[in-house]
Amino acid sequence: MSVAPARSPLVRFVALVEQRLGLHYEQGQWGELEPLLAERSAGCGVERYLEQLAAPSSHAEWKALAERLTVGETYFLRHPTQLETLVDQVLPSFQRQTSTIRVLCAGCSTGEEPYSVALLARERGRVDSSRLRILGIDVNPRAIAHARRACYSPWSLRAVPSAMRQQWFQRTPEGFALLPQVRDQVIFEERNLLEEASAFWAPGSFHAILCRNVILYFPPDVIRKIIARMSQALVPGGYLFMGPSETLRGISEDFELLRGGDAFYYRLKPPAPPVVSVAQSIPAPEPVQRGTPPAPTPPPTPDGLEGVLQLLEAERYTDAWALLESLPQSSSPKAQLLRAVLHLHAGRLSQAEQLSRQLVTASSTEASAYYLLGLCLEQSGDEAGARGRYAASVRAEPTFALAHLRAGTLARRAGEMVEARVALRMAVSLLPQEKPLHLSLFGGGFGRHGLMQVGLQELQACTEVL
Ligand SMILES: C[S@@+](CC[C@H](N)C(=O)[O-])C[C@H]1O[C@@H](n2cnc3c(N)ncnc32)[C@H](O)[C@@H]1O
Repeated sequence: MSVAPARSPLVRFVALVEQRLGLHYEQGQWGELEPLLAERSAGCGVERYLEQLAAPSSHAEWKALAERLTVGETYFLRHPTQLETLVDQVLPSFQRQTSTIRVLCAGCSTGEEPYSVALLARERGRVDSSRLRILGIDVNPRAIAHARRACYSPWSLRAVPSAMRQQWFQRTPEGFALLPQVRDQVIFEERNLLEEASAFWAPGSFHAILCRNVILYFPPDVIRKIIARMSQALVPGGYLFMGPSETLRGISEDFELLRGGDAFYYRLKPPAPPVVSVAQSIPAPEPVQRGTPPAPTPPPTPDGLEGVLQLLEAERYTDAWALLESLPQSSSPKAQLLRAVLHLHAGRLSQAEQLSRQLVTASSTEASAYYLLGLCLEQSGDEAGARGRYAASVRAEPTFALAHLRAGTLARRAGEMVEARVALRMAVSLLPQEKPLHLSLFGGGFGRHGLMQVGLQELQACTEVL
């Protein structure tokens, strides 16, 4: 496709799609939208069509576009360990405090995910199903209509054990129909996650939110907005489940990362205690008495950066920043690298990008700086640029497992499965030896084992689409 001139109809269409549906298209993908724009505007002409589309009242056309543009891949019992953790541990933990436990599946597609929660809750029996309220929302009206019908193909049920299939589904000429007692436990609503709807996201609305494999199509500023709404809508200590290749790193500091088996999920942190500055929190030295031997000095922390690293590992980004800034002004590459990582965590993408660009020539941090630059570009939506930087990072340090992991993940998303598998296999084989510094700086709280699981799930996702 030829590069569209600025503000051409196609550019405006791409921008509107991102603004209204959150779906982000790289410039190289814009061509995919060209036939759709031509088709939808055939009746009234492209200028008039775009005008109508930009109008706040254009709901019907946006529904039609959502049906054409969203990716609805889903199936029953997808990412099963997360679902088991939800019904075995998370939901029962609320049983004593409340009479109804409310779960939201945001981006539920054709309903397999919320029905899986209902089914598993019954199967495992740890939470009282009669007190469970499950709501599925999706922007695609056709997906919601399918979810309400609750009749599925064998492919949708491919991960459901046959005993469970027999117990809860009835074979019909149209497919496997979910029994009414489970079907009626879930309600569905057509809803766009991007729309302002303060009543829907009212504080304390949900005990757990599943938003899995949805935000990976959105640019970071949209993700931030959506996650902020979800964080506000959860009860204190509420839980958020995301897909295995989605992360809150650089998006939100409201949550702590938890692990159940090989599943990762997030819990809302309690409100922060009043801020105590780092200087205040360091106890004042004891006055040294004349004539007494001097107190033993504490073991030195090498140039104070170790402390910053420890705070970073503990996800105490604000404290880490305060400590770093309180150190004697250091312009060493490592200090600059830490600064760039902290900018990224705080969502200050341009500062993080600028610093990492300056660092790519410093030989001591070259691979890390390329990696960090890749993360910045990825978060600002430039996946092609990010892949180039991950490749540079691997050239500078061929054993950099995390760089292989991101490169493989992006190759998978771009549909380049052979390249994805090669990179992901490298990642999985190198992760056991990954440098602790890389894990602290870039592991996003996952740790070696967690990253291994992410790598394995990514590899599995490559084979799922074959
Ligand atoms: C890949 S499916 C994920 C389904 C399910 N959560 C799972 O993990 O199996 C992504 C879903 O997100 C929905 N979606 C995309 N953008 C959305 C938006 N702006 N508001 C609500 N749903 C959206 C799509 O329609 C699609 O059904």
